[in-house]
Amino acid sequence: MSGEDVHAAGYRRVDTSPDPNALLAGMIAHSGWKATIDLRAWERYRLRLAAGERLLDVGCGLGEATRALAIDLGRTGEVVGVDASTAMLAAARSRWDGVCRARFVLGDAQALDLPSGSFDAARSEWVLQWLHDPQAAVAELARALRPGGRLSLIDTDWGSLSLDIGDRDLADAVRRALSVERARPSRVGRRLAAVAEAAGFSGIVSTQATQVWSSWDPDTSPAPDGCFSMRDLAQDLAEAGELDANDLDRFVTTAHEAARQGRFTMSLTMHAVAATRP
Ligand SMILES: C[S@@+](CC[C@H](N)C(=O)[O-])C[C@H]1O[C@@H](n2cnc3c(N)ncnc32)[C@H](O)[C@@H]1O
Repeated sequence: MSGEDVHAAGYRRVDTSPDPNALLAGMIAHSGWKATIDLRAWERYRLRLAAGERLLDVGCGLGEATRALAIDLGRTGEVVGVDASTAMLAAARSRWDGVCRARFVLGDAQALDLPSGSFDAARSEWVLQWLHDPQAAVAELARALRPGGRLSLIDTDWGSLSLDIGDRDLADAVRRALSVERARPSRVGRRLAAVAEAAGFSGIVSTQATQVWSSWDPDTSPAPDGCFSMRDLAQDLAEAGELDANDLDRFVTTAHEAARQGRFTMSLTMHAVAATRP
């Protein structure tokens, strides 16, 4: 994720972000995380896509995940990617080399402009955490699916972020700051099963995976791979009242020094659920 991920704007409004390219690059890095790879493999097994089926990907971003899933849809299948960002959609179209047809359309996850019952499977990954009303978005996924259609949701719980930089007080401050949802539903990952159930899905199964960053060179990159910078995290802590504004630089210096000395560890737990529309 880019630095803005833990802040209010970030992926909610990619097109008006000061640096949309950084947000696009963040998604490419996210696709390479081991936890993401593991959860997408679990999702593929659970969705059991078949040749000729139609797959909906809401908040598709660059379409990385659907491109891999398209193999199971074969040449007669179809993918529809919906996203609120024209920059993401343009990148998804230009990167598409999936085996089946794909359409990438502008839209809002919470009010899809798609016919009811028109998809065999639907997915949404790292999107609910950016929405005002994640429950409305999952209700829309349910509406777009045919009876018997399969759902997959993947998202994170930012409250699970754990940081070890050799300073227990700072680690505790991070945990306290991120345990409270402020500008957005940043902990929705751990509620995915409840959200799916409330939208009427059945046969809900879930899993989780933890991404660990244990090496990072702060002299060549401002942030661990695909993640926010330590200064952005420090600002988030300050906003939450967990870090004195005067201590911002100390936090960043401590984190960078720990990384230089090979003592930096950060982890984040991501969740996935799969379910069926009755
Ligand atoms: C963190 S990215 C995830 C992209 C992709 N699902 C992935 O996992 O690689 C979040 C995506 O959700 C999109 N998004 C944010 N709010 C949205 C909304 N209300 N409706 C549809 N898409 C939205 C963003 O533009 C962005 O592409």
